[in-house]
Amino acid sequence: MSMPAPWPYPRWIAHRGAGKLAPENTLAAFRLGAQHGYRMFECDVKLSHDGVPFLLHDTTLARTTNAARAWGAQAQPTAGAHAWGALAQLDAGAWHSRAFAGEPLPTLAAIAAYCLANGHLLNIEIKPTPGLEETTGRVVAEHAARLWQGQAVPPLLSSFSPQALEGARATAPHLPRALLLDTLWDGWRETAQALGCVAIVCNHALWDAALIAQVNALGMRTLSYTVNDEWAAQRLIALGTDGIITDRVDLFAPA
Ligand code: G3P
Ligand code: MG
Repeated sequence: MSMPAPWPYPRWIAHRGAGKLAPENTLAAFRLGAQHGYRMFECDVKLSHDGVPFLLHDTTLARTTNAARAWGAQAQPTAGAHAWGALAQLDAGAWHSRAFAGEPLPTLAAIAAYCLANGHLLNIEIKPTPGLEETTGRVVAEHAARLWQGQAVPPLLSSFSPQALEGARATAPHLPRALLLDTLWDGWRETAQALGCVAIVCNHALWDAALIAQVNALGMRTLSYTVNDEWAAQRLIALGTDGIITDRVDLFAPA
């Protein structure tokens, strides 16, 4: 039985920057999460059509930007179909509230600059446009390796997509990887091992003592998303899991 390697990341991780208190996956959200004491953040990263890694959760621009209003309802809604020069013009804050109107979509490079300047750590969830899984893994890992070059603690790269993690492994094998699981699908253990993952990031309801023992026996850490209730957090802490990704930066004070 192998033991998990030393773990450089804190227990508490702010989901998409500051959960729902600010527009998700924006620099404004990171600043707000940091004001609440968080020093590690999760964000979703995909590629523009011209290969720039930037932060966005959904495949389309509809929910969290003003693309339809700015470009017209006929505009292609898929974010990855647009060049970064166009995406950079969008408002990714007004949908949330007036206070954040004008907030842009950030590049991974901008978020790296913010995190590195402030000593914050990052969990980059590779969230590919469907069909671009391996390419997205490769490009995000290549950028991450360059942006964090020489840093003591690298970003943790995670994905629901094994192909994206395979792309990341092929490009930057030294960057730590984690497999995200919403269900315990057949072959997840073998897949995580083959990808050299250091952690499993599970839908929090899936964790129990037996699963934690299995994952630890593979030499991997145990993290959870998205934990927004006190009782759920207490359960995960009592079980001895290693990381909790939360929207509720206002409820949970990271130790
Ligand atoms: O990375 C953890 C969590 O963010 C995964 O789900 O859909 O919120 O990106 P989602
Ligand atoms: Mg995510």
